[in-house]
Amino acid sequence: MELVFVSHNPHKIEEISEILGQGFSLKGLGDLPCHEDIPEPHETLEDNALEKARYVNRKFGVDCFADDTGLEVEALDGLPGVHSARYAGEAKDSEANIEKLLKNLEGEENRKARFRTVIALILNGREYLFEEVVNGTIARQKAGTKGFGYDPVFVPNGYQTTFAQMPLHEKNRISHRGRAIQKLAAFLKSLPGT
Ligand code: IMP
Repeated sequence: MELVFVSHNPHKIEEISEILGQGFSLKGLGDLPCHEDIPEPHETLEDNALEKARYVNRKFGVDCFADDTGLEVEALDGLPGVHSARYAGEAKDSEANIEKLLKNLEGEENRKARFRTVIALILNGREYLFEEVVNGTIARQKAGTKGFGYDPVFVPNGYQTTFAQMPLHEKNRISHRGRAIQKLAAFLKSLPGT
């Protein structure tokens, strides 16, 4: 089965290819080729993921899927959520995002947070949504150098370390995105003829 993942990020494409395994030919936006930055203008992860998938499906006529992820912090009423990448501004600067987050949580005892990933799939003209979360807490200071984004301050429940202190394979096994992709893969593999 040929599928396009609506992403310019070769690391994400490779990671997902590996989870999907044999029987799937996964292409990225660069392979179409599509070099545009596809907008994410909406206030929910679901709407953004669907919009990205619909855009590529309409423009290129291909089966495809898109993802959107946010960090939802309970004491901040779910922020930064859909605004996670640009929490501290348009520069998408992870250091600045973390600084802003820690400042906004100063003196706050409730550190509960979750990462949530939504995947929108368009296959043979039908739309499907998949969602996974990983629950955890926001640490009081940064720890670790692996990963990206908010990894240095996110401690998943059941662990003493942040995502940024974990080997990548361990993070992928338990993470929001890793598990959402596994859900998508299980669905695709359950289809007749795959
Ligand atoms: P995206 O939808 O995957 O581009 O994620 C949006 C933003 O959420 C990213 O720019 C990061 O700030 C944050 N984010 C998403 N996934 C992760 C993760 O696995 N670890 C840390 N931060 C993440």
